[in-house]
Amino acid sequence: MDFRSARQAVLQLLRTVAPADLPELIQWMRTTRDFDEFTQDNNDIMLKNIAEDLRNCLPLETMLSSEHLALQKIQQQPEPTVHVDAFLYDEDFIDSLCEEGKMSRNYCTVCGSHQTAPLGFISHSFSLMELKFIYHHVLPDLSEKILVDVGSRLGTVLYGVLHADICTQGSLLQNADIIIMNNVFEYFLNEAEQARAWDYISHNVRRRGSLLVTVPSLEESLSGLQVNIQLSSWVDEVPLNYDVYPEKDIDREALKQIHLYKIL
Ligand SMILES: C[S@@+](CC[C@H](N)C(=O)[O-])C[C@H]1O[C@@H](n2cnc3c(N)ncnc32)[C@H](O)[C@@H]1O
Repeated sequence: MDFRSARQAVLQLLRTVAPADLPELIQWMRTTRDFDEFTQDNNDIMLKNIAEDLRNCLPLETMLSSEHLALQKIQQQPEPTVHVDAFLYDEDFIDSLCEEGKMSRNYCTVCGSHQTAPLGFISHSFSLMELKFIYHHVLPDLSEKILVDVGSRLGTVLYGVLHADICTQGSLLQNADIIIMNNVFEYFLNEAEQARAWDYISHNVRRRGSLLVTVPSLEESLSGLQVNIQLSSWVDEVPLNYDVYPEKDIDREALKQIHLYKIL
């Protein structure tokens, strides 16, 4: 059916709906995610297939025993918190796991009672939405560019293999056109190590005009650390438009954690 006939058929169908039910149906059509499967492009489908493959071979908590500091830091959060990898588990998938009793969004505040409170969720991967925002609305054309994802973990940003401490990779950083840093150090290194790592990054990410994408902002990452990095002479922040997705269920707060800087 072509567009014109399909539109006619939809309008015809709407004319047959009981008037009392029409507002509810229209509201559903405006807000539902049920149409997602018809609007997904091939890239979405490929990313979702990769996530599905990884889900099938990784445990639900998706944490390695080598990530012991990150595990410890999750346990030290003020509210009970679990790691749920946002690339592997989107909101709909979490809902279905909760329905099957395999995951919970709540924890019992008083043992044995029905009182519950929301459980904190932390993700050590970008979600599909964050990745799409970065690739469609933050980064320039990547042809011929060298992109470095510092701490690639599951490979959501960049699926490549170079297994090393970034503080041994000076020439890689010096030659990169774009460097992506998603919460690389905060959960994985103690404060002295974080300070040392940021010092190394700021000394090696120096190519004028190269781009640095960080989560959270550099100001937030460096605050509280004993570092002597003059942001104003190192980088210029490039403002981002966080309102590119009109959908209501977009996690705008997560997008606002993404920052873009140009190296001076
Ligand atoms: C929050 S994860 C980000 C994963 C991935 N880039 C993403 O956005 O989905 C941060 C990763 O950085 C790694 N990391 C921490 N310190 C590092 C270092 N000094 N050198 C290289 N990787 C590091 C951690 O082990 C972890 O895998």
